[in-house]
Amino acid sequence: MPYTNLLVTDADGIRTITINRPDQLNALNRATIDELDRALTEADADKSVRVLIITGSGAKAFVAGADIKEFAHFSIEEGRALSADGQKKLFNHVENMSKPVIAAVNGFALGGGLELAMSCHFRVASDNAKLGLPEVGLGVIPGYGGTQRLARLVGKGKAMEMIFLGGAGMIKAEEALQWGVVNHVVPQDQLMTKCNELASAIAKNSPTALGAAIRAVNAGYEPGVNGMQREIEEFGKCFGTADFKEGTSAFMEKRKANFTGA
Ligand code: COA
Repeated sequence: MPYTNLLVTDADGIRTITINRPDQLNALNRATIDELDRALTEADADKSVRVLIITGSGAKAFVAGADIKEFAHFSIEEGRALSADGQKKLFNHVENMSKPVIAAVNGFALGGGLELAMSCHFRVASDNAKLGLPEVGLGVIPGYGGTQRLARLVGKGKAMEMIFLGGAGMIKAEEALQWGVVNHVVPQDQLMTKCNELASAIAKNSPTALGAAIRAVNAGYEPGVNGMQREIEEFGKCFGTADFKEGTSAFMEKRKANFTGA
């Protein structure tokens, strides 16, 4: 089924999902979240997809937040459901994908936009990007994981300050780089080139090992889960994969590995 609010393209194992509501600065309404849920499920199941890039359409915004117009009249129950549903379908879904997901932050990443970028496994920003969590200025708090993921990325004090300041706490790309919110900052016209370079270098590696690495790193942030123990289990399981046999054989035979993800 085609998408209304997304553009999906494939090249050399890299799937790019572009949120395509530029006239609304790619704000995340429920229809878009549902489509992203579907696109992520499809990408996870498709063995030809090795790495994903998520970006926004146009030169101005990655995503300017959850769609304020859609939730402005919600009740307490509807607000709670909006957060729970969004976290499950999109934000936790992205974080727990079995293949690496890179956020290409091409402009404003505000509210749900920054939360989406933070759910991706890492972020690359264009030099015009502005990132922030303006929710308290609307009388609400970040509800798509922002209170948790920002504190994990930058520490509690910086996260508190950014959240308390709302719109005034917005940071520019260079500051986001210093804070560790993004890994790289590049001129806007080089953003997709940089993301594709990173994605193709990652795509050369073992899909089974990449999936195991995501699960092991994420385990350290799951309440009640012993990350070190999960690492031991994931490490051990790698030894039963065809990718491990291929990777170690290729090393000893002095050739490039050809991973199948089995
Ligand atoms: N939800 C719904 N619509 C949004 C939106 C959002 N989060 N962010 C932007 N839009 C819409 C605007 O309403 C406008 O639509 P319209 O032309 O139909 O009125 C369009 O996108 C363009 O935005 P506009 O505000 O005119 O652009 P700007 O350059 O003046 O300002 C921003 C850009 C990002 C500073 C401003 O749009 C903004 O503050 N957005 C909300 C950010 C936010 O609070 N996000 C957290 C939500 S929880």
